[in-house]
Amino acid sequence: MKRVLSGIRATGRLHLGNYLGAVKGMLELQENSDYETFYMVADLHTITVPYEVEVLRKNRREVIIDYLAAGLDPEKSVIFQQANVPEHVELGYLFSSITTIAKMQHLPTFKEKVKQHPEHATMALLNYPVLMAADILIYKAGLVPVGLDQEPHIEVAREIARRMNQDYGTDFPEPKRFATPGQYVPSLTGEGKMSKSVEGSYVNLTDSLEEIKSKIAKIPTDSGKGSEIVGGVKTLMEFVELFEGKEKRSSFEEQYRTSGVRYSEIKEQLSEAIFKELEPIQKRRAELEKDTEYVDRVIREGAEKARKVARETVKEVREKMGLV
Ligand code: TYM
Repeated sequence: MKRVLSGIRATGRLHLGNYLGAVKGMLELQENSDYETFYMVADLHTITVPYEVEVLRKNRREVIIDYLAAGLDPEKSVIFQQANVPEHVELGYLFSSITTIAKMQHLPTFKEKVKQHPEHATMALLNYPVLMAADILIYKAGLVPVGLDQEPHIEVAREIARRMNQDYGTDFPEPKRFATPGQYVPSLTGEGKMSKSVEGSYVNLTDSLEEIKSKIAKIPTDSGKGSEIVGGVKTLMEFVELFEGKEKRSSFEEQYRTSGVRYSEIKEQLSEAIFKELEPIQKRRAELEKDTEYVDRVIREGAEKARKVARETVKEVREKMGLV
């Protein structure tokens, strides 16, 4: 059976970018019986930038709860925390022996993070894509549901797979990204993408209707009439398409070019549509928060299942690399 792997860092509550770009794809593949799905919390990737120990301890569990609330099902997917499968780190080390520093230094994601935390350009940060390749290839996953921003990392995983297969005769697949309609969710500020590190850019999955309304209301707009749809208006139209469909977007865009639109109505309807999708997730989350035992069991059993597969791959690679 073909395998799938994805992960999200433990940086706090998930936002609509994570949900539409990653989680929706994870759900779709979980429901497809052609695939065996592995979904983790990338807690080891979380420590590549400065963090607080107690906050991480909490968040690596919160993401598991978010996963379950969104519909990931431990009966259908292996749901686990990356740090509970130390084999990822071992395979990452083995992969680092065929990866050049120059290549890693030139990745846009590395440069961006160094700009954000200039005093924290660590080895772990440089190694981020190598560990990510290990996450994927340790399960020999051929498909990775992630947002567009992760494409350069998937490319590194493909290069590592090719190189390992050439040099050591392994049989790693060259993984591909599985894209969703929300593969690039724009920022509410009207510039760039929705991101946890940009205040005012995101809606969290746990936001109330009031919070959603107030955030959507802040998307910058114009007089409501014109010939070219750009900036915040374009962002608003993209959200309309994602939550209310293509036709609604086309009809608003047509109105924009002719009679003009009223943003207050569009924003009100959009906020309701977003909340309608999030409400059942929030209800399940409230239940899960009370069921500590169940969540603990999912975490424990997920690690056991993941380790079984991960151990096999590491054993094989150790042998092929002359370490046995
Ligand atoms: P992270 O935590 O930055 O993001 C998690 C997922 O959310 C997607 N995403 C978006 N998608 C669309 N529009 C947006 N505005 C948006 N913002 C975030 C990301 O593309 C990602 O899919 N490196 C990964 C974590 C990771 C991983 C892996 C993923 C570690 N190992 C192995 C897949 C396979 C990351 O930074 O996720």
